[in-house]
Amino acid sequence: MITREEAFALLTTYNKEEFHIKHALTVEGTMRYFAEKLGHDPEYWGLVGLLHDIDFEMYPDEHCQKAPELLKEGGLDEDFIRSVCSHGYGICSDIEPTHQMEKVLFATDELTGLIGACALMRPSKSVQDMEVKSVKKKFKDKKFAAGCSRDVIRQGAEMLGWELDELFQETILAMRTCEQ
Ligand SMILES: [Fe+2]
Repeated sequence: MITREEAFALLTTYNKEEFHIKHALTVEGTMRYFAEKLGHDPEYWGLVGLLHDIDFEMYPDEHCQKAPELLKEGGLDEDFIRSVCSHGYGICSDIEPTHQMEKVLFATDELTGLIGACALMRPSKSVQDMEVKSVKKKFKDKKFAAGCSRDVIRQGAEMLGWELDELFQETILAMRTCEQ
C-alpha cells in the first residue's frame, strides 16, 4: 500500500482546485471516522476517501472510468480501484458497493457536500454546533444544494441498513473531526 504522503501527492497531481482538495480531505476524514467506529482500518479507508474523486477535476466526463488508469499508475491495486469506482454506482459505474467501506463511501460522498453546504448557512459556518434536525430540514428542501443527490444518500443509507437520521448524525460527528 502506498503511504498517505504518496496518496496526497497523487491527489494533487490531478486536482488543483481548492474545492476538490477540500472535498477529498473531508471524505478522507469521514472515512477514517467510520472505519474507527466500525472496527476497520482507518488508514486504508482514509486513502480510499482521499482518492475517490481522483479523475473528476480533469476528466469530469469520464468520472470513474479514468480513475483505474490513474490509480494503477500511482501504485494502487485492483481491490482499491474497485472500491473507488463503486462510489459511482448507477451513475458512472456499474460496480456495486458490496464491502461496508464501499457502502459508507457511497452514502457519505454526497451527504458531506450537503452537510458542508448547511454549515455555510450557519453563523458559525461550522459543523461543530450543527444538529441533525437542520440537516433533515435541508435534505427535504430540494432546491437547497440541489447538486447533492438525495436519491444517492437515501440509497446509501438503505445499503448500510441505517436510518437516515443515524447516517446524518454519524456523518456530522465524522465531519467535526476533519472540518476544513
Ligand atoms: Fe466525491
